[in-house]
Amino acid sequence: MSEVPGQRRVTTAALQAMKGRGERISALTGYDHFAAQVLDEAGVDVILVGDTLGMTMLGYDTTLPVTMEEMLHHARAVARGASRALVVGDMPFGSYQGAIRDGVHNAIRFVKEAGAGAVKLEGGRRMAETVEAIVQSGVPVMAHIGFRPQEILVQGGYRVVGRDGATAGRLRDDAAALEGAGAFAVVLECIPTELAGAITRSLQIPTIGIGAGPDCDGQVLVWHDMLGMFPRFKPRYVKRYAELHGVIAGAVQEYIRDVRAGRFPDAAHSYRGEPPPARAQED
Ligand code: KIV
Repeated sequence: MSEVPGQRRVTTAALQAMKGRGERISALTGYDHFAAQVLDEAGVDVILVGDTLGMTMLGYDTTLPVTMEEMLHHARAVARGASRALVVGDMPFGSYQGAIRDGVHNAIRFVKEAGAGAVKLEGGRRMAETVEAIVQSGVPVMAHIGFRPQEILVQGGYRVVGRDGATAGRLRDDAAALEGAGAFAVVLECIPTELAGAITRSLQIPTIGIGAGPDCDGQVLVWHDMLGMFPRFKPRYVKRYAELHGVIAGAVQEYIRDVRAGRFPDAAHSYRGEPPPARAQED
């Protein structure tokens, strides 16, 4: 990751200290160099190169087809554009669910080949051993519980998780196990506000909520969702801070009209020079 002289990189320890001081952590997904530069300059603490890029950037229906090579390609571009934010690479489906050594190997690839500062993976207690092995190999891990998009086939669709007591209890145990395994933070996706608050208070490490209410230590949203660039799907928890799909479509339509009408390029967008010499007469 490129460093700017005098600018301190956000570290996992800094995020934990923020929790200690009661300062909220801002995180957003980012998938390319442009987004990384905008997010970094705006001062976001964490840029998550989420596997949602499979849907927002690559046009898949779910995150399941996303490969390590696709993730590394995007993570590299993000890491080159971020000099302050912590860049977290999201481990794609299939890159850690099998043998623990595969998880360690792929986590290390995010650091060595893409310049990420940490990885994220989905799963509760079952993933604790994998989290511990990756952390021991030297790569910080952000855990992810609640709704887990990589398990959509067994979870039966997008939904809120933990509304009943038994599931809520399991989620609390999951969070504790992941903290015990050495995770530096945990994403809470689509869980009730009360449960997210209880988990947040029970942990030393920060919680980062998405659809988990206001009582988490930080929040994350998908870049395309918050900018209104993914009109196909808008979960209740998404706040759109801009409606860029319409803005971009309007600009493109205006361009098409200008080209068709011969209004673009005009003199202001063209180069002037000497009139070209007349072509020699060919006989
Ligand atoms: O892949 C992703 O973008 C994520 C966030 C939604 C937390 O996991």
